[in-house]
Amino acid sequence: MCGIVAYIGPREAYPLILKGLKRLEYRGYDSSGVALLNDDLRVYKKKGKVAELEESLVGQDVHAHAGIGHTRWATHGEPSDRNAHPHSSASGRLAMIHNGIIENYAQLKNELIKKGYSFQSDTDTEVLLNFVEDIQKNNNCGLEEAVRIALRRVVGAYVIVLLDKDHPDTIIAARKGSPLVIGIGKGEHFLASDASPIIEYTKEVVYVNDYELAILKADELILKNLGNEKITPFIQKLDLELAAIEKGGFEHFMLKEIFEQPETIFDCLRGRLDAEKGIITMAGVENNIEKLRNADRMIIIACGTSWHAGLVAEYIFEELCRIPVEVEYASEFRYRNPVIHNGDVIIAISQSGETADTIVAIEKAKEQGAFIMGVVNVVGSSIARLSHAGAYTHAGPEIGVASTKAFTAQLAVLTMIALKIAKEKDTIDQTRYMHLLAELHTIPEKAREALKAADSIKKLASRYANDANALYLGRGYNFPVALEGALKLKEISYIHAEGYPAAEMKHGPIALVDETLPVIFVATRDSYHDKIVSNIQEIRARKGRVVAVISQDDEVIPKMAEDYMTVPETDELLAPMLSVIPLQLFAYYIGIAKGCDVDKPRNLAKSVTVE
Ligand code: F6R
Repeated sequence: MCGIVAYIGPREAYPLILKGLKRLEYRGYDSSGVALLNDDLRVYKKKGKVAELEESLVGQDVHAHAGIGHTRWATHGEPSDRNAHPHSSASGRLAMIHNGIIENYAQLKNELIKKGYSFQSDTDTEVLLNFVEDIQKNNNCGLEEAVRIALRRVVGAYVIVLLDKDHPDTIIAARKGSPLVIGIGKGEHFLASDASPIIEYTKEVVYVNDYELAILKADELILKNLGNEKITPFIQKLDLELAAIEKGGFEHFMLKEIFEQPETIFDCLRGRLDAEKGIITMAGVENNIEKLRNADRMIIIACGTSWHAGLVAEYIFEELCRIPVEVEYASEFRYRNPVIHNGDVIIAISQSGETADTIVAIEKAKEQGAFIMGVVNVVGSSIARLSHAGAYTHAGPEIGVASTKAFTAQLAVLTMIALKIAKEKDTIDQTRYMHLLAELHTIPEKAREALKAADSIKKLASRYANDANALYLGRGYNFPVALEGALKLKEISYIHAEGYPAAEMKHGPIALVDETLPVIFVATRDSYHDKIVSNIQEIRARKGRVVAVISQDDEVIPKMAEDYMTVPETDELLAPMLSVIPLQLFAYYIGIAKGCDVDKPRNLAKSVTVE
């Protein structure tokens, strides 16, 4: 949610910032801008995608060795040139970019208006910037001190990065609740919301923590807390290759990421699963096994697709570990007054590791003494650092805004955690345990097999591109997959789609069914198969158009469905890792058929760092 890039050093700042903004565009793409500082401070901004900013700057003076850039996901004020970042202070001396929300901006704005300030934009960012400038004026202090004083008054989440015309050798940045990474080069420094704009130049990074302030010069990095005490930067090596964040010949990141799943699931299992010996190695689980095996209850906290992975995990943990599980939307959990007991274990699932609602929900649970286990994709992210223990999903950078490979990797990790706990608790018999490990081992190959249906799914999808609605139904382990399939379709193609437990449809949604409504059944062979066949009959009896995801050897459903997509057979507990794949492709190809920007669907952003 909003991407930030900044540079100070001997290189030309503008092309580097522009490239970085394109890499970060998945975080927000309704407007963008840069501020470039040499002897003068120039601010350029434009509504629309980064390419539109680039076009508008052809022929402009963009020479500079220090600069800041921003790609926006609107919170305060509609997407427009005026509301785009960077913002300039009243005097024109300062420029600032911001990711996050200043919750008490209205109060600060009123105070400033009373002092005679006026505002060019509707943003909370411009308010904070002028608040900083006002403090500087009143206290006759430097920018660093003014930022520190201002941030002590600010309620909300932010990463801010500032340039000061009078100090072209310095960039000042601060963080609370939104991500910020500093890249350390030779005689140069980089700043970004994640490491993707940085890895091309350096692998040495520092993740800035909440309530820290960074003062960057080309050859110097000073980190301080808001109490003005110096902090020693903890330099980490990035384990990320440039190829991982490029499209690699695919038309879209989403398609690339769908096709990466055989490898990403494999990477997730690699070094952890030894199916032959019957061993799963996961340090985060082993080191905390007493807590996990003795958990009275597990509460899974997540949002969106990660929440769907949590729903699958609920079925798996209850089945294998016999531990009661609750799955909570982080955004609801954080504002409730939830009852948390000493023996509760929280499992927080997040691809980005930066989702604001999930972060605050974790903090709330932590305050009440819960043990937090993170299942996170982005290494070093806020949720990874907030958790007591965790397991990374190792899916690599997910850039397409709609989550795909992160989901299957989350399922693989959650399954291994459940299997490990079940083994410890002795709630699974050895034969089933060994069978599940052996089956899990085959999932990457079966995912590869499932992807072979891509061309036929492309043809099939074009027949549904003009529909206005779709209903997704599933039972058991495939119920959350129905929810995920519906979410993918609405995100990518803007077709209204609902997911439901198949048996629940008769309690309401069946009223929607007529000869125009596509009903997508997730109906791979499992213990509910006969039941879902009956549900398909109920839809057919009302002339609904049945599309089904089925197991390869299913001979029953093809005779009943208008269209079907097949996946290899596996144990029902592992089926979601395969049955979701045709639904991802189905949504992708419908989005393409409709001419949608599938990598950057309207109104969405990858990393939701606002509440
Ligand atoms: C759906 C999607 C979102 C995310 C949600 C949680 O395709 O991308 O629903 O799943 O915003 O994000 P993370 O997993 O980063 O916490």
